[in-house]
Amino acid sequence: MKKVLTLMMAFCLLLAGSVQAENTSDENVQAESEQAESELEKSDTLVVYFSCTGTTRGVAERLADVTGADLYEIIPAVPYTEEDLNYNDRSTRATTEQDHPDTRPEIGGEDVDLTGYTTVYLGYPIWWGQQPRILCTFVESHDFTGMTVIPFCTSGSSGIGTSGEDLAEKAGTGTWLDGTRHSGDISEEELKAWVDGLKKNQIITTCESVGCSS
Ligand SMILES: Cc1cc2nc3c(=O)[nH]c(=O)nc-3n(C[C@H](O)[C@H](O)[C@H](O)COP(=O)(O)O)c2cc1C
Repeated sequence: MKKVLTLMMAFCLLLAGSVQAENTSDENVQAESEQAESELEKSDTLVVYFSCTGTTRGVAERLADVTGADLYEIIPAVPYTEEDLNYNDRSTRATTEQDHPDTRPEIGGEDVDLTGYTTVYLGYPIWWGQQPRILCTFVESHDFTGMTVIPFCTSGSSGIGTSGEDLAEKAGTGTWLDGTRHSGDISEEELKAWVDGLKKNQIITTCESVGCSS
């Protein structure tokens, strides 16, 4: 009797083990298919942006819509308060950071994996004629090799200045196109025309460098 009971217990243990193994393999298959699905859904274009008062965010979101791009927001580890952004007082945070070019505000939130992207739009507000220093933190911590990077900005009225060139130099990788200032209320149609123009220019530049016949 004791022998029979031992045999039955061993059988139950074996059965439980095989059910568990089956569940684990089901979970693995599901995880793999989810990963494959998200890779399939992943665009080859990414819009990265930093925005404190929403203007650049609006442009970035419309740009992502018209290009079918993924969207990534650079979120500061320490958010900027209204007082931090008060440029009428030169001692406040944003202005002090701009006064010290080596400042590198920390990025909070999730990092973005740039693998698989071929085009990266990079949007930011102009602060005292330049890119906010957190953009330097971002470009210095990512590798843009094999990617075309297109800077754009919003501002009260200033142009993009040399911020795009400065970021390209700090990144040290990637092919950087000239940057552009967009008005905060630029429409999707206007953004589409801008993107189409960039593509056309790229084809012309490529043709000039490799000698296309037509
Ligand atoms: C600290 C600071 C400095 C700024 N400097 C400039 C400037 O030099 N030229 C300009 O036209 N606008 C300047 N602005 C205005 C912003 O560029 C403009 O409001 C921008 O669209 C804000 O973008 P956001 O809403 O995405 O943060 C400055 C704003 C701040 C907070």
